[in-house]
Amino acid sequence: MISKFIFPILLNLMKHFPYFLLAIVFLVSCGPRERISKEVFDKVNNSMEAKKLSEAQITQEALIWGDSISTVAQQQLMSSLHKAVEEKGFGGAISFCNVNAAPIVSELSEKYGVQIRRTSFRARNQANLPTAEESQILDAYQYNVENSIENEPNIQKIEGGDILLYTKAIVIPSEFCLACHGEVKNDIEVELLDKIDSLYPNDLARGFGLGQLRGMWSLKIPKKAVVNRL
Ligand code: HEC
Repeated sequence: MISKFIFPILLNLMKHFPYFLLAIVFLVSCGPRERISKEVFDKVNNSMEAKKLSEAQITQEALIWGDSISTVAQQQLMSSLHKAVEEKGFGGAISFCNVNAAPIVSELSEKYGVQIRRTSFRARNQANLPTAEESQILDAYQYNVENSIENEPNIQKIEGGDILLYTKAIVIPSEFCLACHGEVKNDIEVELLDKIDSLYPNDLARGFGLGQLRGMWSLKIPKKAVVNRL
């Protein structure tokens, strides 16, 4: 009696066994990476649905997180810079920035899983020049500064919406910055200028005044990391 049911099933399985095997081999040999990203994708979607998150809530959280990360990064850079100026003077601090600014920022990028950088149209380090997306935002910040409109941090979806680009304007807040970014004749000492020229032959980051737009923080925040925080 039972064999009446089981036999056709077995026969069916045997008939399809090669496909079954093929599917397993495919999954095991070249599937893992795809499976993982699909899993991650499903997870983000599922948890968005389960938590009933709206896009507005995600943007809001990305703003809060971006603010806190860029503040930490700013503080770390500034405290290291102040310390270097105290210990070695502005000339010594130039070499310090040259060697240490990037590692400080990239260590934080790793810690948060968020790509962090500073960018500027008038960059000292040419690696900090803006991308096309960043240029548009910098243009808007520049317009606002020139027209005395207050700049707010901004979130934009990029890379198909998987990444949220957080940006925050950096203006020159004090005389301290001018020693290295100010007017060549009035603010930057001659010896210091020589040093800047030798380390950064294409330097554009001079001639700034107080309150001017120096550049902006630019953080690539993965949407899934934001969802996980909610
Ligand atoms: C001791 C000199 C020194 C002082 C003081 C200084 N900077 Fe800089 N700054 C540099 C150097 C050198 C770089 C390039 C760092 C690198 O190679 O990544 C730089 C880079 C930057 C950048 C990244 C964009 C670019 O031009 O490459 C920003 C933004 C910036 N500085 C803002 C400021 C602000 C705001 C202040 C004041 C709070 C300040 N800096 C004070 C030397 C200085």
